[in-house]
Amino acid sequence: MTTAAAELSRKDYELFRALVYRESGISLGDEKMQLVKGRLAKRIRNGDFKSFGQYYEHVVNDTSGEELSQLLDAISTNTTHLFREANHFDFLREIVEKWASAKKRDADGKTLRIWSAACSSGEEPYSIAMVAHRVLRQVPGLSVKILATDISTRMLARARAGRYRIEAAEKVPADLCKTYFRQVQDANQPTIEAVPEIRQTITFSRFNLMDPTFPFKKGFNVIFCRNVMIYFDSATQETLVNKFAMHLHPGGHLLIGHSESLNRIKQPLTYLRPTIYQNGKTAR
Ligand SMILES: C[S@@+](CC[C@H](N)C(=O)[O-])C[C@H]1O[C@@H](n2cnc3c(N)ncnc32)[C@H](O)[C@@H]1O
Repeated sequence: MTTAAAELSRKDYELFRALVYRESGISLGDEKMQLVKGRLAKRIRNGDFKSFGQYYEHVVNDTSGEELSQLLDAISTNTTHLFREANHFDFLREIVEKWASAKKRDADGKTLRIWSAACSSGEEPYSIAMVAHRVLRQVPGLSVKILATDISTRMLARARAGRYRIEAAEKVPADLCKTYFRQVQDANQPTIEAVPEIRQTITFSRFNLMDPTFPFKKGFNVIFCRNVMIYFDSATQETLVNKFAMHLHPGGHLLIGHSESLNRIKQPLTYLRPTIYQNGKTAR
C-alpha cells in the first residue's frame, strides 16, 4: 500500500527556511521550495511523520541536535572532488615553495598552517596535503598542519575515512596519486585510501561558520573557503570574510570558489586575481 506524499505548505516552508538560515547561514530563496520538499521527503517517510509541520516540531524539540544535523545535511550541497578547481593547487604550490625558501618567518615559522573551512568529504584537504607535503618533505624541520572543518558530521566521517572510489584518482596528478594514495578493496569495489603521511597532517573537526567566534588561537597562512559562500547572503558573507581576515597571517591568502566573488561586500583583503585574495601586500 502506498501512502500519499506529504504536502509542504508555504507557511511550513517559511519555518524551515528561517531555521536553516539561523542555524547554518544558508539562504534559501522562494524558488528552492520544491527542492526542499524533495530533499526532506525521504526523512518524512522514514520517520513516519504525518506532515512537514510535525517534522519541523520534531527538529526544533530535539535537544540532542541530531535531527537538526540531519536536516542541514539534507539541505546542503556536498559536491566536491580531488583537485577541484586545479589552478588553486598550482597557486598553493607556489605559496608553499615561497614560504619554505623565505629567509625570515614569524615565531611560529616552522609550521605552515592551512584551513579548509568547508571541507565536505575531505577531497579538498587531502589535495592541499599532497601539494604541501610534496614540497615540504624536501626541507628538514618544516611541516604543514591542515585544519579541515565542516558543519556536517556525516561528511566529516567520510573525510576522516579518507577513502574514495577509484575513479576519483583520475583527477589527481599521477605522481601525487602514486605517492599519497594506495589501492584497497572496499565492499568489493576498488577504492583508493590516503596514506598516513598526509592523514597525519590533517585535523578534522566540526565547525559551523556561523559560530560568533572562531576558537583558533593561531592564525593561518592560507584559508580555503570554496563553494559554500555561494549559499550565504551578502551580509553573512561580509561577516565571515571579515573574520577570515582577522585569522590570516599578514600576507596570508584566502581562496574562494570560482563561481564566487567578494565584489559586493566590504572587506579588508587585497584582490590578487579572480578567487584569490591576500591579507595586506606583504607576501611571505
Ligand atoms: C559544496 S561543498 C564544498 C566543498 C569544498 N570546499 C569544495 O569546494 O569542493 C559545501 C560544504 O559546505 C558545508 N557547509 C554549509 N554550511 C556550512 C556552515 N554554516 N558551516 C560550515 N560548513 C558549512 C556543507 O556541509 C558542505 O559540505
